[in-house]
Amino acid sequence: MSIPERRLNDGTSIPATGFGTYPLRGDEGEQAVASAIAAGYRLIDTAVNYANENAVGRGMRASGVERSELMVQTKIPGRHHGYDETLASFDESRHALGVDVIDILLIHWPNPSVDKYVDTFKAMLELRDRGLVRTVGVSNFTEEFLTRLQRETGELPAVNQVELHPYFPQQELLRFHAEHDIVTEAWSPLGKNSPVLTERVIAGAAAAHGVTPAQVVLRWHVQLGSVPLPKSSSPERQRENLDLFGFELTDDEMAAITALGRNDGRLFDGDPNHHEEQ
Ligand SMILES: NC(=O)c1ccc[n+]([C@@H]2O[C@H](COP(=O)([O-])OP(=O)(O)OC[C@H]3O[C@@H](n4cnc5c(N)ncnc54)[C@H](OP(=O)(O)O)[C@@H]3O)[C@@H](O)[C@H]2O)c1
Repeated sequence: MSIPERRLNDGTSIPATGFGTYPLRGDEGEQAVASAIAAGYRLIDTAVNYANENAVGRGMRASGVERSELMVQTKIPGRHHGYDETLASFDESRHALGVDVIDILLIHWPNPSVDKYVDTFKAMLELRDRGLVRTVGVSNFTEEFLTRLQRETGELPAVNQVELHPYFPQQELLRFHAEHDIVTEAWSPLGKNSPVLTERVIAGAAAAHGVTPAQVVLRWHVQLGSVPLPKSSSPERQRENLDLFGFELTDDEMAAITALGRNDGRLFDGDPNHHEEQ
């Protein structure tokens, strides 16, 4: 299945959807990654804190697909913030994944009380300039933190991976991203284990288009311009979650799904201003 591409502000591009791997680990993780790649995924999301970089690397090799056709993105954890710590973290990730170059490197959370995310980003720019990382990005950054990165380094990340689903549609942040040429990646794009897939407007759109509720939600992401990273351990659902490019939601359906958003829509207490990730 061929997936359209999204252009990034560094001149490269990523597929319009990717594969989430938390909490897949060990042999199960390896098999899930290999089957996701067989289904057609080319962008694989992992993190030091998922303790599965090794399994992801093995799954990539087991897939038999050329390394040059795959993109792996991992994340610097909170305890590795700082310039030298980031360079060391990158090396550990590279070895765990078994790759020479990391396609996309993100800061997992800003951890503002520690106040080291700017130094972390500077080290990532250095890795990019040395050709060891292709694209630099962040995760869970607010407009304020993104603006500070630009002020202090002269650069904006190419992607910001944030919580995004119909209960938490983040309209303002998406507008800011669009104005500043930052691609939004969506974590928990299906709303994880919340009742989002049983919402009436989603079930209604699924019936109207002859698709599943998950496909409606993932298509909503694609039309918003966000890159969803759904996780599934089932090969069947992995394929279902990729089959998004043969139908289109109407403006009314898009608006009705976005209107499911609510102030307490976060899945857990993941406010980037306060969340401290280790
Ligand atoms: N940057 C961050 O801070 C951060 C935070 C959280 C997550 N993430 C990333 O985002 C990825 C996705 O988020 P997530 O795993 O939290 O949530 P999600 O992808 O929204 O939901 C995953 C859940 O939905 C089920 N599912 C998948 N496809 C389905 C379908 N077609 N129909 C019905 N149920 C389906 C999965 O079960 P089965 O496996 O049984 O199919 C799993 O229980 C993670 O894996 C991780 O890579 C990043």
